[in-house]
Amino acid sequence: MQEDSDSIRAIQWTGDSLRLLDQRDLPASVNYLELVDAVSVAAAIRDMVVRGAPAIGITAAYGVVLAARQRYAESPQGWQGLLEGDIRLLTAARPTAVNLAWALQRMQRCAAGTEGDPVPLLLEEARQIHAEDIDANRQMGAHGAALIDANSSVLTYCNTGSLATGGYGTALGVIRSAWAAGKLQQVYASETRPWLQGSRLTAWELTCDRIPVTLITDNAAGFLMQNRRVQWVITGADRVTANGDVINKIGTSSLAVMCRHYDVGFMVVAPCSTLDFSLDSGAQVNIEQRSEDEVLTLADHRIAAAGASAWNPAFDITPADLVDCLVTERGVIRAPDRAKLAVLKPD
Ligand code: MRU
Repeated sequence: MQEDSDSIRAIQWTGDSLRLLDQRDLPASVNYLELVDAVSVAAAIRDMVVRGAPAIGITAAYGVVLAARQRYAESPQGWQGLLEGDIRLLTAARPTAVNLAWALQRMQRCAAGTEGDPVPLLLEEARQIHAEDIDANRQMGAHGAALIDANSSVLTYCNTGSLATGGYGTALGVIRSAWAAGKLQQVYASETRPWLQGSRLTAWELTCDRIPVTLITDNAAGFLMQNRRVQWVITGADRVTANGDVINKIGTSSLAVMCRHYDVGFMVVAPCSTLDFSLDSGAQVNIEQRSEDEVLTLADHRIAAAGASAWNPAFDITPADLVDCLVTERGVIRAPDRAKLAVLKPD
């Protein structure tokens, strides 16, 4: 057994402000931003100071606390109406991850039930959302690790760890748990162009927690599988629709197709807050398009030929039938489909 390492907390409530680890600067420097209002929280989500579906939801929940503090000071009678605008601003910050809307709806319900100063109750709710996420990650870690045989090697994509969640991680939480159980020979992380969440964030996070990691370029994944170097590809999700389609970082669906071809397991790890029963299938999801500069440049230097343009969707849709296992905090669903997923539908 290895030690259970989980040292990073990217989202911190200081007592009167929100402290976010600025993920744009990693791994070169470890900087924190201190935020005191909803406008700067929405900007931090939009500009990828904080990213990853659960982390965005938790951040937005603390953003509502900051907004309510400001609005209640401005108008102890009319703060609820003013807060609506802040919640709309936060909801629009990034469209694809359902955890954002999920957390904001929860905060909105809480705000509706308060009398007098709303801050203590809202802070309690935001802390609860944060704590529940870490707890869910620990449970998913145990469920997912149980699927992995001893002496396995795995490939992960994007960053799904403490940086992308309240702590511990989803797919990376499964890898942490499997590593702690001594089951893993090697962890491969794919670079994840264009933003390089794999090489910048996952590699940083794993090395901080002393879990050895080997990077591959995204286009090496097929050859890695063909050489039987991995038994599982393990990813997170930004949204799972009612039929089991998985919306996740662009490139995920290519990995799932290759897994099926090379008979490698494809595991998706996502808390119930990532399930969206309001949408029938992945085709209905609003896929975020990001700036073409992310593709045309590398570390702020133009690498593409002058005159070339770029198409830069941030996420793609993996059809449910390519998913071998969906791991949530409530257990494992093998070959997820609409009927099996319906069991997890909230009442
Ligand atoms: O654009 P990002 O970095 O926010 O994309 C993140 C992902 O695609 C993650 O896989 C997903 O949010 C799950 S994180 C636990």
